[in-house]
Amino acid sequence: MAATLSEMSPAEAESVYFNEYPPPKNLPNHEALARAFIDLHVEANRRVVLVTSGGTTVPLEAQTVRFIDNFSAGTRGATSAEYFLEQGYAVIFLHRQYSLLPYSRHYSHSTNCFLDFMDEAPSTSDQGRIVVRDEYQKEMRDVLRKYRYAKQNNLLLLLPFTTVAEYMFELRSLAKLMRPLGANALFYLAAAVSDFFIPRSRMAEHKIQSMEVPAHLDKGSKAAGQDDIYTGENEDQPQSQRKKLVINLDPVPKFLHRLVDGWAPDGSMVVSFKLETDPGLLVYKSRTALQRYSHHLVIGNLLSTRKWEVVFITPDAPYERWIRVPKSRRSKSISGVEDQVGLAEAQKLNGSVLAPDAEADPVAAEHGTSRDGVEIETLIIPELVKMHTKMVEKKAQRDQQ
Ligand code: PMT
Repeated sequence: MAATLSEMSPAEAESVYFNEYPPPKNLPNHEALARAFIDLHVEANRRVVLVTSGGTTVPLEAQTVRFIDNFSAGTRGATSAEYFLEQGYAVIFLHRQYSLLPYSRHYSHSTNCFLDFMDEAPSTSDQGRIVVRDEYQKEMRDVLRKYRYAKQNNLLLLLPFTTVAEYMFELRSLAKLMRPLGANALFYLAAAVSDFFIPRSRMAEHKIQSMEVPAHLDKGSKAAGQDDIYTGENEDQPQSQRKKLVINLDPVPKFLHRLVDGWAPDGSMVVSFKLETDPGLLVYKSRTALQRYSHHLVIGNLLSTRKWEVVFITPDAPYERWIRVPKSRRSKSISGVEDQVGLAEAQKLNGSVLAPDAEADPVAAEHGTSRDGVEIETLIIPELVKMHTKMVEKKAQRDQQ
């Protein structure tokens, strides 16, 4: 029996996975843009961060009508990209198409409709100019100036993807293209990448039918050689006997180690995220990921508290460090369960709930304050930049010896 991807060596799994899919149509164009962008910043000796952002889709059909998706709106990635730019980095923003983008995110979310920021200027005709409302002038001017600065100075490259396979191709290519940057390269993997997919060889070509189609008309609405994986519904049978859609997903190969020991530049820094919903698992799972993939930092976050607290898990002391938005600076308008802040740390210490909402290690937050309070990324990014600086300095020392 043929080995599954998870039974193969990482290099074998890589070759099998990437041979199974045609590369995304946009890849050559994205590679050309990225090459020019990277060359420019290598020349300027500027640091470059690859920020991944948003969710990935898992198509159920090759000519895709239906797909599986996840919750990520790309807030973490888009917000972080802005703070990296503020810290002098150039940013390659590899994002799920139509998820939030740096700068425009302030006005594109459904709860922040851009039309609410505008008005018609008083006028005697009905052709009055459209203007930004007075109360938003200052904030919008700041955002606009930063956006234009990034654009005019070629500091931000936006590259979209949609499916998990596209994400994989883009990540591998970009990591290899970033090699000339050496230690000046930083990977910040905030995307929520699907863990499961349907291999191309088992995917239905056409739209999966919800009712039986005569065999001579069915051009491939069932997964190859697997009549039992999908069967349409028989209307004239009782509910209990009707056929069901059963989806059989394989694990997506974890190429996270390949990033460090195969694709990424020598001496570059790799930061990945770990998302959990169970507070009791967060630190354990983040540490396990750090050990398994040899990244330099894993940032753990809980779905319910991710906008107020994260934990930095590192291979060296202090090993675990909580970063929290001080209580008084938290936005009241963002979604989440504020009562659960501090729970993951308390549960890890005692196996029981002790002191939720501890203010442990608050980092001063003087800027990055928006209409919505302090954004946690304004605390995360400067800390991370300090760690990257240390790595760059160490590498320079090693190179001199
Ligand atoms: O977008 P938001 O709504 O703001 O939400 C932000 C977030 C919660 C999605 C983000 O903060 C986060 O935690 N992202 C990682 C989610 C996760 O747990 O991913 P994972 O355990 O499946 O993967 C671990 C890490 O490897 C992640 O950094 C992921 O981006 C990366 N990964 C995973 C699989 C894969 N095939 N390739 C990857 O690069």
